[in-house]
Parts: sequence; structure tokens; C-alpha cells
Amino acid sequence: MARYGFGIPLLGYPAPARNITTLTRIQLGAALMMIMAVALVVVHNSNGKWELRLNNQGDVVQSEKGVVAADDGRCSEIGVSMLREGGHAVDAGVATALCLGVVHSMSSGIGGGGFMIVRSSADSRAEAFDCRETAPSAASQNMYEKNPATKSKGALSMGVPGELAGLHAAWMKNGRLSWKILFQPSIKLARDGFVVTPYIRQGIKNSEAKIMADPGLRRMFAPNGKLLEAGDTCYNVELSRTLEAIAEQGPQAFYNGTIGESFVRDVQEAGGILTMEDLRQYRVQVQDAMNVNVMGYTVLGMPPPSSGTVGLALVLNILDSFEPSDAAKGPMGLHRLIEALKHMFAVRMNLGDPNFSNITEYVSDMLSLSYAKKLQQKILDNTTFPAGYYLTKWSQLRDHGTSHFCVVDADRNAVSMTTTVNYYFGAGILSPSTGIVLNNEMDDFSTPTEMTPDKLPPAPSNFIEPNKRPLSSMTPIIILKDNQLAGVAGASGGLFIIPAVIQIFLNHFILGMDPLASVQHPRVYHKLIPNVVLYENWTVIDGEHIELSEDNKIFLEERGHHLKAQATGAISQLVVHNLQNQLLNMGRKHTGFNSGVFHGLLTAVSDPRKDGQPAGL
Ligand SMILES: *[C@@H]1O[C@H](CO)[C@@H](O)[C@H](O)[C@H]1NC(C)=O
Ligand SMILES: *[C@@H]1O[C@H](CO)[C@@H](O)[C@H](O)[C@H]1NC(C)=O
Ligand SMILES: *[C@@H]1O[C@H](CO)[C@@H](O)[C@H](O)[C@H]1NC(C)=O
Ligand SMILES: *[C@@H]1O[C@H](CO)[C@@H](O)[C@H](O)[C@H]1NC(C)=O
Ligand SMILES: *[C@@H]1O[C@H](CO)[C@@H](O)[C@H](O)[C@H]1NC(C)=O
Repeated sequence: MARYGFGIPLLGYPAPARNITTLTRIQLGAALMMIMAVALVVVHNSNGKWELRLNNQGDVVQSEKGVVAADDGRCSEIGVSMLREGGHAVDAGVATALCLGVVHSMSSGIGGGGFMIVRSSADSRAEAFDCRETAPSAASQNMYEKNPATKSKGALSMGVPGELAGLHAAWMKNGRLSWKILFQPSIKLARDGFVVTPYIRQGIKNSEAKIMADPGLRRMFAPNGKLLEAGDTCYNVELSRTLEAIAEQGPQAFYNGTIGESFVRDVQEAGGILTMEDLRQYRVQVQDAMNVNVMGYTVLGMPPPSSGTVGLALVLNILDSFEPSDAAKGPMGLHRLIEALKHMFAVRMNLGDPNFSNITEYVSDMLSLSYAKKLQQKILDNTTFPAGYYLTKWSQLRDHGTSHFCVVDADRNAVSMTTTVNYYFGAGILSPSTGIVLNNEMDDFSTPTEMTPDKLPPAPSNFIEPNKRPLSSMTPIIILKDNQLAGVAGASGGLFIIPAVIQIFLNHFILGMDPLASVQHPRVYHKLIPNVVLYENWTVIDGEHIELSEDNKIFLEERGHHLKAQATGAISQLVVHNLQNQLLNMGRKHTGFNSGVFHGLLTAVSDPRKDGQPAGL
């Protein structure tokens, strides 16, 4: 792996023991307060400076300069390599996203879309880049009526890709490095090959039928007729050429050029309706990030068509309107959280793309304290209720897949991005001439005639219209305390995302767990229908067992919850900015309070559930 030139060995087999912290580049002077750490070693870093480092890889990295937490260690390192060049958090974000699209093409890539929140520390401005896929101009409300399977499988399930346009828009506004430089590590990975990690192996194994059925995917993941094993090298030479062209010519190579033309040809040959005109018409939606005050913090996030920020705000405001101020604590806190989640899921299905559906009233309800109080009063501490009690009208959105990463740079600019192709390997097609995996984001729309697993009618505000964006659960957030950066968080995992991000926020910022514990802690989920609490019970890829405690299970069962174990869940990345040592750090160069921007220790966590690793500068 060292041949990619990023110094630190990237993935170990077998995976290292967990809950041991890797400390990178903490200056000796600042390290005194860190001595509680285990087994510190002093090593020379790549700049020739001494640094303290734990002699183990881990899910945690700390740095005062900059961090990237992605769900693959190679991509975190690539992000950090851009920070090292003097890049802005957005430069690192673009490079990280491109890398994820190469090594985790099952989850994201330039054939997909996503949401990116960027906060610039100098002017406290936070922008939301919505690069979600849109319905092609030839799409229609009933296009899947005759053949419902094509809504999630095959080229017809593809929305117009937005990721590349979003990365470019964010870079145009914030980037300091050249566009071309950001592509080089990913071009190299795709061309010279990258190692199949145990996680990737698990992903391709679970999608074996899909891969074998598609010539493009088969060429990449089963070049000799048999699926690649962990440790094998995987290539996507076509994608490396595509990325090279985009690095040289900019995103117009895809949106209005030869790459786009090849891509459209492949899509149409596979039965899709995408046209060059759709690509030319694609627009990133850039607006101020949504800004909500919850539990003493400000959360910056995506406005609709994400249901994430408003969903998170509603649940936290419900918990905050309980009389005891520690309402979220302990098993009772868990019960209240589950009840609040059920109310949130019931109302969020009124949402949709605000450019097509008038959702003003629902959004203001979900953000209103009095509405939260009303729902809180419907929650009883001694019992749960049947699904009907929560007055849900519409079938739940069941989105999938995705990848989340967080970046903070030396100036404390921050990026929080969630990106997706929806299902694993999206539509199940890799465009043979461009190496791009097609998303199947059209499946996130509702259609009037569909059979729903919860037997509820489909949500009209989320019906298909040309150029419309489907509703989403993606919840990339940036957290502020007194207008200073306090954290960056988000998760992948569709319907599980909002509950996961809420639990991580509560664990760290409200209940005081350390950053790693906040992410590792076993989570609960709920889909409203069936009326069952899904709790984590699984041995994850690195051998760690994650299971809700017996005490919690018993407490919930006593309140009438039906419990079901599941060996899956959201994958979350978190960065925490320590604001506690503000005084201690005052007056130190490059740390402490510079021109009104606090520079404290950054702790980056990648979820052990996916075996990702963060990286620090
Ligand atoms: C597409 O490219 C052509 C030149 O090849 C240019 O005239 C046109 O303005 C471009 N359209 C868009 C939407 O960028
Ligand atoms: C959505 O509507 C706003 C104005 O309401 C407009 O500025 C924006 O361009 C529209 N976005 C798209 C992607 O059409
Ligand atoms: C949207 O609905 C609200 C009421 O819910 C109404 O006050 C507002 O005028 C509507 N906006 C548009 C653009 O129709
Ligand atoms: C829960 O408590 C309420 C009073 O607050 C009571 O009326 C109700 O019967 C209790 N329910 C159960 C299931 O114990
Ligand atoms: C929990 O997971 C373990 C293995 O990971 C399994 O043996 C056990 O049966 C599971 N428990 C339940 C209740 O599903």
C-alpha cells in the first residue's frame, strides 16, 4: 500500500485490536495532557518533525491541524494529503469523495449524488450543496407501473447523476488547490489497482448475482470469472481514463462532452432514458445550510429534499421538552428516543423536493418547539403504542447504501458529505466505456400504484416529475457551540441514518461519551411499521461484537416494545473539536483562539462497523 505514497500502512490483516487510539502529529508541547494514552511511541513524521503516536492503528485519530474521517482509510489519507498541500477542507473533501467512488463503487461515485455541507470559519458562512440525482426529463409519475422491478434495477432506475457537479461547485467557491491535483490519487488507484479489503469483499460477495449479471461489473470484480478475494487487486481502468478527462477538462467532460456522450450511449443501450440534454440541464442547488438550535447547540444541515435535518431537530426538540433536563439518559432515554423517532418518521413522509411540492407548513411544524412539545405529551414513560397512534399517513421511504465523511482543516473550515448510488452497486450496471456505476436513485421516489411493505399509500409529495429530486434520509451535519465548530457528523445506511446521527449526537454532546464510544455504542432503529424496535446485535467486520445491553432490552420489553436483533445498521463518521481547553491553548501559535476562531484538538472517528480509518495531518 505504501506505493500510494501516504506513509502510514493503510489496512492491516488481520484487523488490529480496537479501542486503541492512533495519535498522529500531536506536537510534543501540546501532548502533555494526552498522557493518559496507551503505549505512545515517538516517531519521525513525513515532514521530518517528531511526533507522538500510538503504536497501533485504530478507529480514532487526533490532530490539532486537520483530520479526515472516511469509511475507508485510504480515502481519509488521500484527503489529508490535500490538507498537507495547503488545501481547504473542500479540496480534501473532493479528493476523498473521488477516492470513495473508486474503492467503494458499491456505495458512491460520480454516477451518483449526495449532499455536502461546507462551513467556512472566517465568515461563519455555511452552505448546503445539493447534488442529488434528478428524474430525467422523459420520466413520468407512472413510468414503473407496467414493470415495477425496473424502479430499482437496471438503467431505467437511474436518476441524472449530480455528484461531480456538486464537488465542482463546492470547489469553485472554496478550493485552493488546482482541480486537477485533487484527481491524481484516485486516477492512480483506479489505473494501478487497489487492494480488496475484507469490507469490499463482503460487499461484492453479497452482490455476487448482480455483479455476475452485468458485463461491466463482472470485468471489474470477477475478471477471471470468479469474484475477487480480500487481498486481491482490483482495477477500473475505464474509470481512471474518465477521471483523467474530467481532471483535464472539468466537469463539462461529463455534463457536456465526450465522457457524457459515451455514458449516455451505455445507459441507453441498457434501456435507460438519460439524454445529453439531461446532463446539460443538471444544476447543483446551492443555498444557505439549514440552521437549527437544539439542546444548546446549533446544527447546520441539509434542507429538504433531505428529511435529515428537520427530522433530527424534531426528535431532539421532543427529547428536550421533557421536564427533567436529562431526559435522554439511560434506558428511559432510549425509550423516549424510540417514541420520538416513531413520531418523526410518521410526519417526515409529508416532505419532498420543495421546488415541486409545497412543504412549507410541514417543515415549519417539524422545526417548531410547540409542535415538539405536543408530540412529547403523547409519549408516556410506561408504554409504547401501536403504529396507528403515531398518525402516519404515508408509506416510509426506504433508501439505501451511501458513504459519509467529515473533514476539518487547519483553519477550522469543515465539510460534512453524504454520498450515494442508493442500493449496493446502484442500478447494478457499470457503464463499460466510462467505468461509472449507475445509481438507482429513482427508487427513492414514490409512485401512485406501488405495493408498499408497510401497506400504507405512497407519499404524493414524493411522486416523480421530470427534474425533481427524490426525498432522502441523508443527514450530513456540522455542529456549533457559541458559533465555534464543535463537531462534524453523518452516517450511511438509508432509513437508519437519522436515528444513528441522533444517537451519536446525544452520546457525545449531551451524554458526554468520548468520541469513539459515541460511535461504537450499540444503536436502536425503528421503521414505525412493523412496530418493532430493531437493535444491533452483530459481529462486525473487524471481529468486534456490538449488541444492545440486556438491561436496555428488558427495560424496553417492560414498556411493551417488540424487539428484534439485526446484524446490520448505519455506519457513522464523527469529528469532534475540543472546545474545553480554550484557555489552556490561548496565545499559542496556530492553536487556541486566532482571530475569533478557536483551534482546539480534533478527534476523528471512523465507524469500526465498516473498518474504516480516519487520518490526521
Ligand atoms: C456545451 O458545450 C458547447 C460547446 O461544445 C457550448 O456551446 C455550450 O454552451 C455548452 N452547454 C452547456 C450547458 O454548458
Ligand atoms: C428551486 O427553486 C429556487 C427558487 O424557488 C430556484 O432558485 C432554484 O434554481 C430551483 N432549483 C432547481 C434545481 O431548479
Ligand atoms: C404553501 O403552503 C402554505 C400553507 O401551507 C401557503 O401559505 C403558501 O402560500 C404556499 N406557497 C405556495 C408557493 O403556494
Ligand atoms: C401508564 O401511566 C398512565 C398514567 O400516567 C396510566 O394511565 C396508564 O394506565 C399506564 N399504562 C400502563 C401500560 O401501565
Ligand atoms: C446475537 O448475535 C450472535 C452472533 O453474532 C448470535 O449468536 C445470537 O444468536 C444473536 N442473538 C439474537 C437474539 O439474535
